[in-house]
Amino acid sequence: MGTKDKDTQINYFVNSNNKNSFFIRQCTLEDLEGVITVNEKELPEDYPYFFYKSILNNFPKAFLVACSKNEKIIGYVMWRVERTPSINNLRLINKGHLVSIAVSSTYKRKGIAMALLLNSMQAIKTFKIIEYVLEVRVSNYSAINLYKKLNFKIESIKKKYYRDSEDAYYMTFKNINI
Ligand SMILES: CC(C)(COP(=O)(O)OP(=O)(O)OC[C@H]1O[C@@H](n2cnc3c(N)ncnc32)[C@H](O)[C@@H]1OP(=O)(O)O)[C@@H](O)C(=O)NCCC(=O)NCCS
Repeated sequence: MGTKDKDTQINYFVNSNNKNSFFIRQCTLEDLEGVITVNEKELPEDYPYFFYKSILNNFPKAFLVACSKNEKIIGYVMWRVERTPSINNLRLINKGHLVSIAVSSTYKRKGIAMALLLNSMQAIKTFKIIEYVLEVRVSNYSAINLYKKLNFKIESIKKKYYRDSEDAYYMTFKNINI
């Protein structure tokens, strides 16, 4: 993706806190290294490079990065769409599934995750999804708080969901008219 495209996206996604210490834009292939660095520092769940690339190829508008003023990647969010049968009838429905979100330690608690989520949730909505879903470690107080602030509700517990056997809360948000 060329610089011109990137600039356009920067303008479109400009969404900063009051002090303008960060901005948000769509992720590019060149950003993946920075995304992976943040992921590896902040989360125990690592993914292979091709996984990031495939999410970027399939859902580019909902794969966002937060950058510091000097263009360093300081956070990211990525979503995918899953097509599942609805509970009431066997029609297939689309759900927006949060794949991963993280913000670098020194930039936490500045509203970056909130800005990443609000922008990416708008973007993934264009896939005609009927709800947003996610899994989060039951011990991840900050993330659970973040999702609750966005009105996600705990729907169920997925026992031993993570590789180290920790349980996950399955959280959903059904009112997609945000
Ligand atoms: C969870 C995480 C993404 C939040 O990022 P952030 O940019 O610091 O979050 P924000 O500043 O946008 O916070 C928004 C709200 O989330 C909640 N929150 C965020 N961090 C919190 C903390 N440490 N303690 C309690 N609540 C917290 C608060 O409600 C906060 O609103 P407030 O600051 O007005 O009280 C970040 O801590 C992180 O990267 N953690 C490691 C990766 C991770 O756990 N990802 C989620 C996997 S499911």
